Amino acid sequence: MTRKTVTITDNATGKSMELEVHEGTLGPPALDISNLYRDFGYLTYDPGFQSTASCSSGITFIDGDEGVLLYHGYPIEQLAAKSSFLEVAFLLLYSRLPRQQELEAFAAKISKHTMIKESLRGFYKGFYHDAHPMASMVGVVGSLSAFYHDSTDIHDPAHRELAALRMIAKMPTIAAGCYKYSLGEPFIYPRNDLSYCGNLLHMMFSLPSAEYQVDPVAEKALDMIFILHADHEQNASTATVRLAGSSGANPFACISSGITALWGPAHGGANEAVLLMLDEIGEVKNIPRYIDKAKDKNDPFRLMGFGHRVYKNYDPRAAIIRDMCYQVLEKFGDADDPMFELAMRLEEIALQDEYFIERKLYPNVDFYSGIIYKALGIPVNMFTVMFAIARTVGWVAQWMEMIAEPNQRIGRPRQVYIGEKRRDYVPLEER
Ligand code: ACO
Repeated sequence: MTRKTVTITDNATGKSMELEVHEGTLGPPALDISNLYRDFGYLTYDPGFQSTASCSSGITFIDGDEGVLLYHGYPIEQLAAKSSFLEVAFLLLYSRLPRQQELEAFAAKISKHTMIKESLRGFYKGFYHDAHPMASMVGVVGSLSAFYHDSTDIHDPAHRELAALRMIAKMPTIAAGCYKYSLGEPFIYPRNDLSYCGNLLHMMFSLPSAEYQVDPVAEKALDMIFILHADHEQNASTATVRLAGSSGANPFACISSGITALWGPAHGGANEAVLLMLDEIGEVKNIPRYIDKAKDKNDPFRLMGFGHRVYKNYDPRAAIIRDMCYQVLEKFGDADDPMFELAMRLEEIALQDEYFIERKLYPNVDFYSGIIYKALGIPVNMFTVMFAIARTVGWVAQWMEMIAEPNQRIGRPRQVYIGEKRRDYVPLEER
């Protein structure tokens, strides 16, 4: 195969350097600049990583212009229609679809690890009752690193796999615990006869005095949202998990760092922000005023749930979840709740507005996931927690892929320093 290169020239000195082109199976090629500083004396500058591939990965492919999302080559539309969240989890972890028996064995392994230690449950009590569930989740997941010493030798593949299975299995239990604690209700133990999402609904909504009947439409909707959210290549939270993990840190602590990055409203916090925004808009008649605010460059207000860093066409996940959203609203939507009509009108108006059309600002997956969660009776402050449960699969898969790389090194970005030049210390009395 011919070696492709790109030559860069410093116009000031005339000095040139050949950069090797690094090609993947799909997507744009990348220039290998790893020796640029050593051989050419320059760093590259790309705040926000708009043109930087931070790693090679075989897990997820996105073509933002065409609206394509593939997990190990399988289109998200096919997985959402035909697969299940646990099957997708197997695919992301082991790079292939399981056979029936393998899937059953995988589901059984996950079920085996759904419990959390009783002493871990005590950690919740350290939080004040009004703590945001994401705050409790960061703390409780991080504290898993104080347990399970039989799965923290990151150089042992069996340890890595066990840590991954534990993480995926325990997230619903931990998330439901965050919810129950915020309500002051007793924690509900997992039921391993239920599906992954059925069990989550059970732990969130059952009471010791009244068993919750898992509704199949709710279970299916959740399973599908989790498939859509399972991985999304090098987004802020996944990149955070990889960076934390690159230092050899404890796997549970790495996932906790991913949860912190996910929390922000520009990332996973957007589904919560969508509902808060709808609340603020209040009525359909106020929509034009808020659309004007979103367009006003002097106003920090943005339409939450619109736009995406990578998808400059429609977010393929939004197209899938939109249909599910209508199904869920039909079954669970409170016809008297003006919020649902408001959301649908906002979607319609924004999709016809020149500002949004020109900038390719389409509703993203979080616009609809928030509405579905609301219809399912999941409280707004739990929305990002739900996202975190699903994304845990992607985080652990990406973390495992990174640690298994033969030349894995600590991630250490450089900077362009813009502070003071060297200056001498002035003693206090002379200032
Ligand atoms: N409302 C109004 N204007 C917007 C919005 C929005 N939601 N999003 C982008 N724009 C405008 C920007 O002001 C900018 O306009 P300009 O070219 O006139 O300056 C243009 O569209 C491009 O926007 P950028 O900020 O450059 O896009 P970027 O890729 O950096 O940001 C982001 C992407 C963060 C998702 C942004 O669209 C946003 O803040 N959206 C709302 C939050 C949200 O829904 N986040 C969820 C993302 S999906 C996820 O994490 C699963």
